[in-house]
Amino acid sequence: MIEHMDEIYPPSPEFVAQAKVDAKKYEEWYAASVADPEAFWGEHGKRLDWIKPYTKVKNTTFAYPDVSIKWFEDGVLNAAANCIDRHLEKRGDQTAIIWEPDDPNAEARHITYRELHEEVCKFANVLKGLGIGKGDRVVIYLPMIPEAAYAMLACARIGAIHSVVFAGFSPEALGSRIDDCGAKLVITADEAPRGGRITPLKANADEARKHHGDHVKCLVVERTGADVPMVEGQDFSYSKLRAEASAECPPEPMGAEDPLFILYTSGSTGKPKGVLHTTGGYLVYASMTHEYTFDYHDGDIFWCTADVGWVTGHSYIVYGPLANGATTLMFEGVPTYPDAGRFWAVIDKHKVNQFYTAPTAIRALMGKGLEYVEPYDLSSLKVLGTVGEPINPEAWIWYHKHIGKERCPIVDTWWQTETGGHMITPLPGAIPTKPGSATKPFFGVQPVVLDPQTGEEITSIEAEGVLCIKDSWPGQMRTVFGDHKRFVETYFSQYKGYYFSGDGCRRDADGYYWITGRVDDVLNVSGHRMGTAEIESALVAHPKVAEAAVVGFPHPVKGQGIYCYVTLMAGEEYTDELREELRQWVRKEIGPIATPDYIQWAPGLPKTRSGKIMRRILRKIAENDFSNLGDTSTLADPSVVEELIQNRMNR
Ligand code: WT7
Repeated sequence: MIEHMDEIYPPSPEFVAQAKVDAKKYEEWYAASVADPEAFWGEHGKRLDWIKPYTKVKNTTFAYPDVSIKWFEDGVLNAAANCIDRHLEKRGDQTAIIWEPDDPNAEARHITYRELHEEVCKFANVLKGLGIGKGDRVVIYLPMIPEAAYAMLACARIGAIHSVVFAGFSPEALGSRIDDCGAKLVITADEAPRGGRITPLKANADEARKHHGDHVKCLVVERTGADVPMVEGQDFSYSKLRAEASAECPPEPMGAEDPLFILYTSGSTGKPKGVLHTTGGYLVYASMTHEYTFDYHDGDIFWCTADVGWVTGHSYIVYGPLANGATTLMFEGVPTYPDAGRFWAVIDKHKVNQFYTAPTAIRALMGKGLEYVEPYDLSSLKVLGTVGEPINPEAWIWYHKHIGKERCPIVDTWWQTETGGHMITPLPGAIPTKPGSATKPFFGVQPVVLDPQTGEEITSIEAEGVLCIKDSWPGQMRTVFGDHKRFVETYFSQYKGYYFSGDGCRRDADGYYWITGRVDDVLNVSGHRMGTAEIESALVAHPKVAEAAVVGFPHPVKGQGIYCYVTLMAGEEYTDELREELRQWVRKEIGPIATPDYIQWAPGLPKTRSGKIMRRILRKIAENDFSNLGDTSTLADPSVVEELIQNRMNR
C-alpha cells in the first residue's frame, strides 16, 4: 500500500455548512438521477435560458452499431447568450474575465460582462464580415488572451463551429486540423509570449496553410504588435476590422443538437479525432459540473490553469463559469515564470477562491521547495482541484498541506475530452476524499467496471478492470466530426452496450473509483494526451527511419515519458547526432509536448510471426522491468529482445 492511500479526509463542518451539496443531498440527487434521468435532467436543463424550451429530454442509445445521442433535442438556445446576455441585467458591471498576462509586471485586465458582450458582438460581426455563418468551421489558434474567449463565444453567437488548436502545436498539426474540419478561417495572433519566450503564431499559421488549403483566410489578433507579413485579401487585421464593427449582434437561435465545437484529441490509432460537442447538453453539463464540483458561489473568483486549447479550458475557463455568471481567471503564462511561485502569487493577487490545475504542475512546483509558496497569502482559497491524470498521494498531500493549508477539499476530477465535463469526482461538501482517488460519480453518471477478458460487468463492490459508462449523460460527445463510424467503433464496439473510456480502474470497498491509467496505446505526458501511433508516424516520416515503436514509461514529474524504439533504413548509421535530430524532428512535426525523452536504436523489433509488434515487451524494457517479460513464445525472433535489453537507455 502506498503511503496515505488509505487515509480519509472529510470536509470540515464549516465547509459542509456552506456547501451547496452535502452528503445527504448527494445521495438523494444521485439516486434520482439514475432512477429517472428524464425527470432529473428535465429539471436541471432549466438552468439555461432557452429561446424555445425543450419538450423531449433524453433520446439516446449505446446499442452497437446504432449509437445515437440526443439531449433536449427540440429545444432552441444560444450558448453565447447563455454565457453573456442573460447576465447583463444583474451583473453587467461584474468582472466576467480576469486576465493575467505572462509578464507579471504588465497590467492585469478585468473585463466586465457588459464589456464581454460588446467585445463578443464586435468579434461576431467581424466574422460575419469575413463570410462566416452558421455551421461554418473556424479554427482558433491563439495564446491565452481574452480574444480567445471572445472568438469562441463569437462563433457560438453566430452558430459557427469553433475548433481551438493549442498554440503549442506545430504548423503541421495545425494544418491537418484545418484540413480535417474544412475550416474557412483561422484566427491567430501575431505572436504568443509565454514564459518570457515568443512563439511566432502567424508564421506558424502561414506555414500550416501553405501545405493545407492556402485558400483559408486568416484573422490576426495583435498581441505583441510585431510586424508580421499580411497578404492582401487573405490576411486580416483584427484591430482594424474591430474598429469598424458594430457592437450589436443578435444571437443565432440554435437547436440543442446543433454543433458547438470540434476539439481534436488523440486515440490509440490513426490521426487525432475531431470530437464533436453540441450546444444544449454540453452547456447544461459544463455549467452544472462547474457549480457543484467546485461548490461555486456567486462572487467567487475561479481559476482553471488549463489552456483553452484543451477541453478543460473550454468547459472550465469559458463555457461552465460564464454560463454560471462567474468570474473566471485566464492566465497567459506558465507555472515557473518568472519563478516557481507564480501560481501562488496570482492566487494572492486576485484572491482566487477555487483553483484547478494538473498533477504534473503540482509535482513540478513541489520539487522547487516551499520558499516559493511561503511569501504568499493563500487564505482566499476554498476548493482545490486536479485533472488530467491520476494524482500520486504524495503530491496530493503536499497540495492539501501547503496550498490548501489542510482546510480546502481537493476535488480529483476524472473526465475526458469526450465526456464534456466531470464524470467521477468528489463533490467537496459531500464526499470525504482519499488521496489519489477520483471517488464517486457525478449526478447521472453510471460507471461500471468490466472484466477486460469477458466483457462482463463486475458487480461486487470491490472490482478491478476497465472503466465503462452504462448510459448517456448530457455532456457526452455526439460523434467524430465527419466519421460517425469511427465514433461507434472507438467507443462502443469493444464492450457492447457501454461507452468505453479507454481507462483502467479499481473500485474499493467503499465504492470509490481509482483510475489506474489508459489500457490502450494512448500516453498521458504532463496531462497531455498523445497517441503512440501519432509519434510513430512522425518518426517514420523521417527519410532515414524504417520503423518505430513508441511506448510510455513512468516519469516522476510528467507522469509518463515518451520512449521510442527506432529502426533505421538499411545502410544508415546509428549515431547520437541522428538521435538528437529525430527528437527535434518529432518536436517540429507535432509540437514540443511530443518531444521524445528517449530514443533507443532498435535494429530489430520484437514481432510475432504475423508481424505484429509486441508492445507489452517494449513497455517492460522501457520501464526497466525486464525480469518478467511474460510469454515470449510467439516471437518470430526471440534474440531481438535480448539485444534490446542490452542496449536499453540507462536511467
Ligand atoms: C484522459 C483524458 C478531461 C480533462 C483533461 C484530459 C486521464 C483525466 C484524470 C484523473 C486519472 C485522469 C484519463 C483520461 N485523466 N483526468 N482525475 N485521474 N486520470 O482530457 O486529454 O481527453 O484525456 O486523461 O486517462 O482518459 P483528455
